[in-house]
Amino acid sequence: MQNRQIIAESRPFRAFLHGNLTGKIFIMPTHTITLRNGIEMPTLGQGTWFMGESFFEKKNEIAALQHGIDIGLTLIDTAEMYGNGGAEKVVGEAIAGRRDKVFLVSKVLPNHASLRGTVRAFEDSLKRMKTDYLDMYLLHWRGGYPLEETFEALENLRKAGKIRSWGVSNFDTDDMQEAEEYDPDGNCCINQVLYNLGSRGIEWDLIPWQKKRNIPVMAYSPLYQTRLLRSSSLVRIAQELSITPAQLALSWLLHQGTVPIPKSSNIQRIEENRKAWDIELSQEVLNELDRVFPPPTHKMPLDIL
Ligand SMILES: NC(=O)c1ccc[n+]([C@@H]2O[C@H](COP(=O)([O-])OP(=O)(O)OC[C@H]3O[C@@H](n4cnc5c(N)ncnc54)[C@H](OP(=O)(O)O)[C@@H]3O)[C@@H](O)[C@H]2O)c1
Repeated sequence: MQNRQIIAESRPFRAFLHGNLTGKIFIMPTHTITLRNGIEMPTLGQGTWFMGESFFEKKNEIAALQHGIDIGLTLIDTAEMYGNGGAEKVVGEAIAGRRDKVFLVSKVLPNHASLRGTVRAFEDSLKRMKTDYLDMYLLHWRGGYPLEETFEALENLRKAGKIRSWGVSNFDTDDMQEAEEYDPDGNCCINQVLYNLGSRGIEWDLIPWQKKRNIPVMAYSPLYQTRLLRSSSLVRIAQELSITPAQLALSWLLHQGTVPIPKSSNIQRIEENRKAWDIELSQEVLNELDRVFPPPTHKMPLDIL
């Protein structure tokens, strides 16, 4: 899960665009990771929460997602919940003619996650997105149906070739431990949770637990829905590096070996976010970020939006 290449070290704070190295040590994140089932997945994606809610925004949202795909942000994260199916419809229009380039992730609501209900919800999602398979399908969060039942449904979909992989979302360490009991063959490939510089609680035990099993963290709300971007410390360090606060926040997540999925409906901001992939942060910058956004010193409950 680490997928890091040690390349050089810098002083004072610096970030370099890929290829602009000066012989000092940098840590460079990769653009793809291999899941425990052997499937390759991009390490930076596009979120879609709040898309598909307004008729007037739809054209913009489709254009933004398409532009993102065209510049390499081919991982798209959506859910049946977003816009009550509206976001999946926007995604469907955005990926038309581009499906083969896209790593498509959607999620089943917990109240649909029975043995039969999961399949029904899945088929409805496919219809909205006008596709015949998903690259990844997630249980959005834990609900009333037993995990065993939901996992059986997800496994049936995988064996039928309708989904390439499956995972969970909003699972804390105890949930993951329980999930493992019902997934003896290790088919659960990802846990999508809230993770950003302003919310680092999962570093205490969830990330180490997942690392041991090669289950990556997909980091949702990587900009803390813009809250993080107002941090004067983040702004200061980004300025010193001549990058934007959003790029610094995303680059830091990539340097943790996680998969951030920022949402933007704005083409300029999508381009800005895409460039986070090409930024190499020095160990000194990472240390400074640890100083101003300290890692946890004890177990903290999973942060959820
Ligand atoms: N599994 C779950 O329970 C769960 C929960 C929350 C989110 N998610 C997923 O994770 C995705 C991302 O999380 P999120 O949408 O909550 O929050 P986020 O990505 O942290 O922030 C999105 C906000 O940031 C703005 N933004 C994006 N890029 C920016 C930039 N470069 N500079 C300034 N502002 C920027 C966007 O506005 P513009 O659109 O105007 O650019 C939007 O208001 C979601 O869309 C969804 O797919 C999953």
